[in-house]
Amino acid sequence: MTDRPRIILDCDPGVDDAIAIITAARWTDLVAITTVSGNVGVEHTTANALRMRDLLGIDVPVHQGAARPIVAEPFHARHVHGMTGLADVDLPLADLAPDSEDAVEVIVEATLAEEGLHLVPVGPLTNIALALRADPGIANRVASVTLMGGGASGGNVTPAAEFNIYADAEAADEVFRSGAPLTMVGLNLTHQVRMDASHADSCRSFGHRVGDVAAKLIDFNVSVHRGGGLPGSGAMHDPCAVLAVSHPEVVRSEPRHVVVEVDGTHTRGQTLVDERGPMSREPNCRVAYEADAGRALELILQAIREAPVC
Ligand code: BDR
Ligand code: CA
Repeated sequence: MTDRPRIILDCDPGVDDAIAIITAARWTDLVAITTVSGNVGVEHTTANALRMRDLLGIDVPVHQGAARPIVAEPFHARHVHGMTGLADVDLPLADLAPDSEDAVEVIVEATLAEEGLHLVPVGPLTNIALALRADPGIANRVASVTLMGGGASGGNVTPAAEFNIYADAEAADEVFRSGAPLTMVGLNLTHQVRMDASHADSCRSFGHRVGDVAAKLIDFNVSVHRGGGLPGSGAMHDPCAVLAVSHPEVVRSEPRHVVVEVDGTHTRGQTLVDERGPMSREPNCRVAYEADAGRALELILQAIREAPVC
């Protein structure tokens, strides 16, 4: 494990985003949480980030970001995350409003104030692309942009495209062409890190509120993925991007050239990974291929177990 990395978590909570917030609170220094339209509308993703902040009792600013993709129409995943994004979990609304409604400006300013931050987007890449438009120098100032999205082998929204990339393919295209030090933690990796009813039971056994909430989120995640190939478990996508930064040893990655399809009739939102070996174009990204799934799950469960004393 490295020293605690300092990160901005850009998210659209979202069931697995909520688990990513718990994971990040335990294993990173969270400089800010920024929100984006994605799994549900940005008013809900922001409310959910604030609810998670209150649940964890952490002192981290939450900044609301883009309410819609750069070009495409808003595209949500309520069937995977529930109508307002946090499954059927009963969490009170937060007392406080977001610290600002300008996540893009916050990302620019934070990376000017401090070099070497990690940007960890686990929703559509709208905020990150807009920040890079506002200040392309971000690409040289961050330690990494470690994103959950895309993948090296097929999609989940369509056979070709993963949700976060599909939902704002133009933004993703800009990020992949930005020159920033990217790591893509895609479906080929996150499908290796799966939680099932036994993990939910473990969380319940911790005997505290964060564990109970996490258990409900895990159960819901399993229930919505029951038709998805591996019945009885659900991939924990977003925490994998956090762990790729906090515990790089649990995610093996290789440098590759990756482009985002923005036009294809059947392939819009696909991340096309150049696997031609010596014929390949110059890498612009590290592609995550192999997880130490056992260790990743331990770290996520430890983060949940120890959450109230973070
Ligand atoms: C990604 O899409 C969202 O529904 C999840 O929160 C995750 O970020 C997985 O494709
Ligand atoms: Ca997400």
